[in-house]
Amino acid sequence: DVGRRQRLLDAHKIAAEFYRDQLLTQGAATARQFLQDRGFDRAAAEHFGVGYAPQAWDALLNHLTGRGFTIDELKLTGMFSASSTNASRFYDRFRGRLMWPIRDITGETVGFGARRLYEDDQGPKYLNTPETSLYKKSQVLYGIDLAKREIAKNRQLVVVEGYTDVMACHLAGIGTAVATCGTAFGADHIKIARRLLSDDGAGGEVIFTFDGDAAGQKAALRAFEEDQRFNAQTYVAVEASGADPCDLRQAGGDDAVRALIADRRPLFEFAIKASFADYDLSSGEGQVKALRHAAPIVAAIRDVSLRSTYTRELSRWLGMQYVGEDQVARAVSA
Ligand code: CTP
Ligand code: MN
Ligand code: MN
Ligand code: MN
Ligand code: MN
Repeated sequence: DVGRRQRLLDAHKIAAEFYRDQLLTQGAATARQFLQDRGFDRAAAEHFGVGYAPQAWDALLNHLTGRGFTIDELKLTGMFSASSTNASRFYDRFRGRLMWPIRDITGETVGFGARRLYEDDQGPKYLNTPETSLYKKSQVLYGIDLAKREIAKNRQLVVVEGYTDVMACHLAGIGTAVATCGTAFGADHIKIARRLLSDDGAGGEVIFTFDGDAAGQKAALRAFEEDQRFNAQTYVAVEASGADPCDLRQAGGDDAVRALIADRRPLFEFAIKASFADYDLSSGEGQVKALRHAAPIVAAIRDVSLRSTYTRELSRWLGMQYVGEDQVARAVSA
């Protein structure tokens, strides 16, 4: 109900303020150093509401119970964990981590993303709020509250992998960047993107950036499968070295991030080339195998003229004299 939802939003707002204040304390030196090493100054941290969860079991618990929240209410926030052996033991989920408030499109905090800071931390590098009544990861886009106007104005949406990548892009002048939070860009995200990009039906471009590791490649290929649902030009911007936007900005400044986006390639081209990357195209046998892998992707392109364009491109990329659409069709059914 509305009353309970408001209580949950209030708890998140107070928690975000608590974490933000903690970033200024003596115990947060490692967190501040991490931000500095990534090239994020104090103003950048403030703009994104970045905070620090202290290394304690009950720091947030005490803060929120002190502000009148009951344990039953706190259970619904996802900000706490319960001991499996001792039911009365209820403790802070996020400890000794850098904290990003994840906000909905209206700017309300609905969850948190948290990064490990200490070498001896046994937990995963990133920990997020679990599914709650406020936080549905399939619908969350980190940075959407800050990016929504730019997305509509520039008719561009940049999808990056991480919180640090959103920060790096925005600071480099790519204010259209958002990130999924530990999940693939799926159907619900597409709906949100479509609404922002083309409320008048004109569309716009969607650019995916991935850090080039296996998980990133997989995500790009999944995006390809979703692509046909976009009313948009879809591109991939990947750095050959595997660097993500945050890495690029650290090494090459804002210009390196802008160059990454400027050098985008059509998603079709990326997906087709990725499909035959493992084959040796200097032999006829390698070319045939490569064709067999690439053909289903080309054949799946719905737009007729695009399909014939990529059929021509495919022969060029494979170094084969001529690949016709009938040959693509045969390679699919073979
Ligand atoms: N992520 C997440 N939840 C997870 C795993 C990953 O939200 N369970 C997000 C993080 O925001 C992370 C991004 O996915 O930044 C990409 O993951 P990865 O490439 O592994 O992060 P790195 O770039 O290696 O992490 P960092 O830059 O923080 O060192
Ligand atoms: Mn990765
Ligand atoms: Mn990585
Ligand atoms: Mn990365
Ligand atoms: Mn990174």
